[in-house]
Amino acid sequence: MKKSLKESLNSVRLSKHIYPTHYKLHLHPDLLSFTFTGKEIIKVIVEKDTNQVTIHSKNLDIETVKYKSGKKEQFANKITYDTENETVTFNFINKIKSGKGELSIIFSGVISDSLRGFYKSKYTVGGVDKYIATTQFEATDARRCFPCFDEPAHKAIFEVSLVTDENHTAISNTLPIKIEKHNAGYKIINFAPSPKMSTYLLAFIIGEFEFIEGRTKNGVLVRVSTTEGKKHQAKFALDVAIKSLEFFNEYFGIPYPLPNLDLVAIPDFESGAMENWGAVTFRETALLVDDEHSSISNKQWVALVIAHELAHQWFGNLVTMQWWTDLWLNEGFASYIEYLAIDKIFPHWKIWNQFMIADYNVALKLDGLTTSHPIEIKVNHPNEINEIFDKISYSKGSSIIRMLALYLSEDKFKKGLQYYLKKHSYKNTETFNLWEAFEKVSGKPVAQIMNSWTKQMGYPLVDINTTNQKTIISQEKFFSSRVCRKNNKKKYLWEVPISYGNDIVLLNKNKLEINIEVSNKINHYENSFIRVKYDPSILSKIKNDIINNQMPTIDRLGMIRDAFDLAEAGYIKTSEALEFSLAYKNETEYIVWNEIVSGINNISNTFLSDSNEEKYKKYALSMISPLARKIGFYKKDADRHDDVFLRSLIMTQSASYGDKRIIKQARQIFKNREVDKIDANIRSSIYTIIAKNGGTKEWNILKQMYLDNNIQEEKDRCVRALTQFKDEKIIIKTLDFIMENKEVRAQDVPHLLAMIWTNKVARDSTWKFIKNNWEIILKKYGEGGHFLSRLLSPLGNHTKPSDLKDAKKFFSKKTAPGAERTLLQAYEKIESNVAWLKDDKKDIKKWLNKNY
Ligand code: BES
Ligand code: ZN
Repeated sequence: MKKSLKESLNSVRLSKHIYPTHYKLHLHPDLLSFTFTGKEIIKVIVEKDTNQVTIHSKNLDIETVKYKSGKKEQFANKITYDTENETVTFNFINKIKSGKGELSIIFSGVISDSLRGFYKSKYTVGGVDKYIATTQFEATDARRCFPCFDEPAHKAIFEVSLVTDENHTAISNTLPIKIEKHNAGYKIINFAPSPKMSTYLLAFIIGEFEFIEGRTKNGVLVRVSTTEGKKHQAKFALDVAIKSLEFFNEYFGIPYPLPNLDLVAIPDFESGAMENWGAVTFRETALLVDDEHSSISNKQWVALVIAHELAHQWFGNLVTMQWWTDLWLNEGFASYIEYLAIDKIFPHWKIWNQFMIADYNVALKLDGLTTSHPIEIKVNHPNEINEIFDKISYSKGSSIIRMLALYLSEDKFKKGLQYYLKKHSYKNTETFNLWEAFEKVSGKPVAQIMNSWTKQMGYPLVDINTTNQKTIISQEKFFSSRVCRKNNKKKYLWEVPISYGNDIVLLNKNKLEINIEVSNKINHYENSFIRVKYDPSILSKIKNDIINNQMPTIDRLGMIRDAFDLAEAGYIKTSEALEFSLAYKNETEYIVWNEIVSGINNISNTFLSDSNEEKYKKYALSMISPLARKIGFYKKDADRHDDVFLRSLIMTQSASYGDKRIIKQARQIFKNREVDKIDANIRSSIYTIIAKNGGTKEWNILKQMYLDNNIQEEKDRCVRALTQFKDEKIIIKTLDFIMENKEVRAQDVPHLLAMIWTNKVARDSTWKFIKNNWEIILKKYGEGGHFLSRLLSPLGNHTKPSDLKDAKKFFSKKTAPGAERTLLQAYEKIESNVAWLKDDKKDIKKWLNKNY
């Protein structure tokens, strides 16, 4: 009989009365048949007599199970699998008595294609296919490799030994302590015992690798490994890894506990990177930098990813969340600290500025939906667990940590962290443990403030109303959909530190009156995670400050972001936001332009095939083109770090709204590419412009460039350009190419499909294509994880009520495991788009007619 949902959710957790302390794990993978055999001895502590032991196991064949305690041993007489809960139960005739014991298990499994558990990755060298066997265990996939207590709180010591071909390298969390060579052509590698850690952090990677190495000041051996012929692309990563490790040693006040740190580039990899303790794995584009082919943007990405994963060596590995409900402690923190480290290592990058567009804005957008979720959220089943590796855990998590850090001061924040990490080393925590640490060092009511941000979803829209020396500051929840705002009945309240002038108040009620007339922008540097709505008199003063360049960059960004988003949400008219945007004509900062462009594009994407389109293009060009002409495609000596990004953004956008001169230049640069190599920093821009204005000929060229190139970063640029064509027939060719060509790695397919779907010309055909291919997609990507949610999020760009109906109908019959919330969010967005269109179509038209 099928269990009720509630029963199955409860039974997903293992019994508390038996837990592991030590695993001796021996694996023998076969890279020809792609299978493996294994045996393990798990030392356990039993706290209550029992006849049954249940642990995790998925897709494994268990041959025998023996339990030994003292001199007594017995074999399990029955082994039953529970596929729903991913567990296996061993039955013993004689009761197992409380106390210490050892479970010995012999098992076998398949080295899969699924990018999880123990899986294979394929690459070619000189036309010869080669394979790597590697692991990805987070969140709940160690159980696909060996039977285990696969919960983060079940920390244990792991002693791994692997049998490999004599010409293969094996990397695991620790260094080998003994290698036994056999004449038959294989070797047994025994690794040193790991620190006490969670199962999801274990890793082994087997294949033919080359590497470069270095050491930190403290003598930690750091190596970066790649497949054959790529180690020259590892230099930058090695440098950043050493510097990050040194930075964290000092910052956290606890030295990295292992003698080694390996960073390994894996050709097939589901996410960006994984923080396995001492053996961090990456997709190639997140680790490798090529002098000739890499853009600064990719380099920066590599640096951030490395800093992120190394931050986890403390925040996550040394101190781990008790259960996945507190996943954000891992991911939110690492997403914050990565910027801290990179800011110290590359101060001229001004990386915190980019935090505003990479995380803060993204979180504001997603968390304005009523289908968002609180940072701390109850999860049980693996599908639910995978679902919360999302923008809320990462981006909202890091944004509210930034808010707290700025509120407490840098010094108190660091002290609090050190206290927390020392106190909970090798143990598990919940969110309140962290607040406790900050309270201890700062004396401020941290838990009270922060609970309002982690235990409820959303964030406040703060309203500023000022008259006669008095200002009323009030708060209500921000709804990005006007439909949901109307329907909302719930009351929300946050504790918000708000800066104004040189002061800071804690807004902890709905309304607060202060005895001062506010006449400037509040929430300096966007410190608190809020949006602000000003009364018109303050707004016009702020607008002047922007025009006269008297406002810091991050505040300028905040103003335009809120203007556009308040319009989309119906708090102001879209024409007001457009009018406000005119204050930014002389803007020069990349991160601000990123917001302006995103606002302009969002309106264009929603109000798309409209009679206003030509005039809207005029408006967009009047904003972007003057700067594009000034910047040009060629780099200048005076360029600052992010001017390079500004160039790429502005040139692409300007061409995209039809700037003929720029399109012509791009064509010229593309045509000359063999004689005069295109600067890697503008390649993506050039390829995109070529695609947006190209036909079959250009499609074939870009496709061939994709096939011929061996650098993943360059390949990505080419195939991404294939998603940008404007001719529907060509787009269908791209869809087929991506789905059917074996050259396109499974790891990239969902991202690429999502990119085509985001191309507004291809919206309807992609949706149709996805529906038609749903069964194939489901088979490949339907095992939970992030692929489906990544793939399905552009559904929310649709603007027709009929599309909403169609999607709901489609997914009432089809499943989308791990993407259920993404679907609800997409529905909410479509509904919101429909209402926005209806309300503001005329308003925009009027404004455009008046001005253009
Ligand atoms: N722990 C994650 C990797 C991960 C993600 C495992 C999802 C299981 C499910 C890792 O630390 C991570 O967050 N990686 C990011 C990159 C980072 C720089 C934001 C990623 O892969 O996108
Ligand atoms: Zn992470």
